[in-house]
Amino acid sequence: MRIYRAKDYSDLSRKAANIISAQVIMKPNCVLGLATGSTPVGAYRQLVEWYRKGDLDFSEVTTVNLDEYRGISRENKQSYYYFMNENLFSQVNIHKTRTFLPDGMEEDARKACADYNQIIHSLGGVDLQLLGLGHNGHIGFNEPGIAFETETHCVNLTERTIKANMRFFLSEKDVPRQAYTMGIKTIMSARKILMVVSGEDKADILEEAFFGPVTPSVPASILQLHGDVTLVADEASLRKCKDRI
Ligand code: F6R
Repeated sequence: MRIYRAKDYSDLSRKAANIISAQVIMKPNCVLGLATGSTPVGAYRQLVEWYRKGDLDFSEVTTVNLDEYRGISRENKQSYYYFMNENLFSQVNIHKTRTFLPDGMEEDARKACADYNQIIHSLGGVDLQLLGLGHNGHIGFNEPGIAFETETHCVNLTERTIKANMRFFLSEKDVPRQAYTMGIKTIMSARKILMVVSGEDKADILEEAFFGPVTPSVPASILQLHGDVTLVADEASLRKCKDRI
């Protein structure tokens, strides 16, 4: 595992964007696995800036996102599709037909998940998977206790995740209770993984995930067993790992 220590959030965003753009430059028709949440927003902004300057070309890139809420349409401002469109897809020259997320409006959960697995397999897997880290160690919506052997599946969100995501909704009752998410097996199949972590409030879980035991109770800890993981984290979130890196 490589760990890049960033001074602050903007340094973190630039470093992460550098790694993503290197992937796009080295393999223009790559498959990028993308994440939503607050942490990657700065990296997306930086990628858009470089695209506008003419330094990046997304015309051959395909993307697959980690997850989507169940029961929320693409037009809904809280959907992850809407988020990706706002923050990246509509800002660069990516072909919309090559941007994939689980279909939140597919009521048949088994079909939604099987279809998404099929898309990922038919693309030949993910070249670079971007991840954020949940306060309870979740990656995607893989909450503590999840079996490591799962592919895309439907999950019930934990109370903690519902509360954490409430900031994007009018009230707690508006936060969807279920989501479709790539599983740990899907995430671990990516050829490279890039995790971005920011903030003091992630310091404890970051230490647990990367330097504690590998256990389903901290889903991100499985990344210790992946052969090509890059962690870009700011000083605040690395506070408890100082003596280890
Ligand atoms: C996002 C996702 C989540 C977030 C995680 C961290 O698609 O699946 O696992 O990456 O909750 O979120 P932030 O970056 O908002 O702290």
